[in-house]
Amino acid sequence: NYLRHVESMAKLPSGAGSISHLNAVILGESLASEENDLIFPNVEFSRQALVSSPQKYFEMYKRSIEDPAGFWSDIASEFYWIEKWGKEVYYENLDVREGPVKIEWFKGGVTNICYNCLDRNVEAGLGEKIALYWEGNDPEFDGKLTYNKLLYKVCQLANYLKDVGVKKGDAVVVYLPMLMELPMAMLACARIGAVHSVVFAGFSAEALAQRIVDCKAKVVITCNAVKRGPKVINLKEIVDAALVESAKEGVSIDICLTYENPTAMKRENTKWKEGRDIWWQDVVPRYPATCDVEWVDAEDPLFLLYTSGSTGKPKGVLHTTGGYMVYTATTFKYAFDYKPSDVYWCTADCGWITGHSYVSYGPLLNGATVIIFEGAPNYPDSGRCWDIIDKYKVSIFYTAPTLVRSLMRDGDGYVTKYSRKSLRVLGSVGEPINPSAWRWFFNVVGDSRCPISDTWWQTETGGFMMVPLPGAWPQKPGSTTFPFFGVQPVIVDEKGQEIEGECSGYLCVKCSWPGAFRTLYGDHERYETTYFKPFPGYYFSGDGCSRDKDGYHWLTGRVDDVVNVSGHRIGTAEVESALVSHPHCAEAAVVGVEHEVKGQGIYAFVTLVEGVDYSEELRRTLILTVRKQIGAFAAPDKIHWAPGLPKTRSGKIMRRILRKIASRQLDELGDTSTLADPSVVDKLIALTDV
Ligand code: WTA
Repeated sequence: NYLRHVESMAKLPSGAGSISHLNAVILGESLASEENDLIFPNVEFSRQALVSSPQKYFEMYKRSIEDPAGFWSDIASEFYWIEKWGKEVYYENLDVREGPVKIEWFKGGVTNICYNCLDRNVEAGLGEKIALYWEGNDPEFDGKLTYNKLLYKVCQLANYLKDVGVKKGDAVVVYLPMLMELPMAMLACARIGAVHSVVFAGFSAEALAQRIVDCKAKVVITCNAVKRGPKVINLKEIVDAALVESAKEGVSIDICLTYENPTAMKRENTKWKEGRDIWWQDVVPRYPATCDVEWVDAEDPLFLLYTSGSTGKPKGVLHTTGGYMVYTATTFKYAFDYKPSDVYWCTADCGWITGHSYVSYGPLLNGATVIIFEGAPNYPDSGRCWDIIDKYKVSIFYTAPTLVRSLMRDGDGYVTKYSRKSLRVLGSVGEPINPSAWRWFFNVVGDSRCPISDTWWQTETGGFMMVPLPGAWPQKPGSTTFPFFGVQPVIVDEKGQEIEGECSGYLCVKCSWPGAFRTLYGDHERYETTYFKPFPGYYFSGDGCSRDKDGYHWLTGRVDDVVNVSGHRIGTAEVESALVSHPHCAEAAVVGVEHEVKGQGIYAFVTLVEGVDYSEELRRTLILTVRKQIGAFAAPDKIHWAPGLPKTRSGKIMRRILRKIASRQLDELGDTSTLADPSVVDKLIALTDV
């Protein structure tokens, strides 16, 4: 049934006619013509593309759905396994009614992802190829490492970690900015079978402590400081505070390996705790530069990454080794039409899933050359990205709509000043890209030459789920188009019934894919409740989605209580619990509002305890409280004083009404008569600009 649906999608854009029409365009005529909002791939591009037409896509897609075991084992065989997986390539139960949810891929297969990223590529002759280019915050600082050199350094660090007692299955928390040492730390953990838990270096001490405690980390790896734009951020101080916190909760860290980041801060100025703190540069280089790998089962854990959900506590998303390896490598290759001569730059931080799958693992598994950028995209000025692209001859540039929008605001001049002629493929991730930003990205940044891979996926999915394969499909600005191989997205209604054809509803996935997360660390029940119970039989993404008459998919944003600020996922409940931790705050309700650059902004309604008056100072303090508990990126854009919150008689906050007030759609408040006290709405509106 689903295949028929995809087949009809492959029969293609009604506006454009048929596949033969499309081929005529691809083979015969020239460049990016716009027709019915369709942007056709450039002829030259399609000719050289890995997937050059809708038919080719369909052939591959069909096989991936009809014979997932065969499709994925053929690909998996391109990697190094010391032992092959068992007869059953995969096992899945996504249906809670049939028993516990369980997903396994390549079980019994024994491999190591670090070996596949490094040793395998070195053996294949890529030893002298650049693996990582590093571009510092200040343009005068840069660096690079070949595959040989990266392997050498990873082995030294792996040996150090082993020496201090880190064993297979132990958790290591990594709190580093975008230095080459960050992917290095991830790879070193993977090499020895340790589980890394990277915490984005914008999280506060409290958030870091919470993550250290949850995974019971053995070691913390960090650096003393980092520069972002003109500002120095003292990361070590944040870590120090986190380690005091985590010790109080029973997880005391004996080793805090600290990289001296000399362009940001000299070691003399770093606060130090003798015995616990160790300079990376003092110990790691003393270790041997070869290190045997720890061979692990395909289903052994590779990493934990905490992400926000609709309830308070962050969720430890757990990914395992084999399926994740095969999936990130394959999605990277096809989604960016990767060629060995490419230079690839993804602006995401390794602290998020995009940096895990598409700064580190996916590209390195393909033997790609990757850029790691420490700084801010508008420092020293708004031309920095294009300067970097010219400097390294970047051919694949993958970024977030929020960055596109903010650079778009700064004017075309910054872009056109640079050549950008090395660019071949552009990519977008993190939130829906609005058509006007899409067009600017396509026309101005890519000179109407480069297809845009708008990749829809999530921390949970490990890799891309929907993406317009470059050169294969005509694109529609703002649509993520069609599923990746092996992925069966479905749109369901409230009752969990699949809807066909042109429709909109809740985006779910039927059947597993190799990169899927296997559980929430320590809480399989929450895993089932959050993702598999809402629509039994399916994985529920938490996103809304519509499908148009041509079968193209359009993401419409989260349908749960998660806001997406500059592509960062933030649970409203987390912000609320930070706010109410302040003694003057009695209650808080947070909603997302549209924001021109950030996509969404955080809008907080705050009720104060009896007898406390609102003031500017209190507003600042409340915002500071959120920064302290979560991180600066989660700070509310607006605090709206609320004498009371609109609640139903059973005490449930009616967020629908709050969203309307926040976005000033006052004539769309809807029925307020079911509220316990309808007068709160007027009182709230009266305080809008206070
Ligand atoms: C949103 C980031 C529209 C979506 C990879 C999803 C997107 C959440 C897109 C996951 C896209 C991500 N178009 N929306 N191309 N990519 N999203 O876990 O709401 O940080 O559920 O993973 O970002 O965010 P996460």
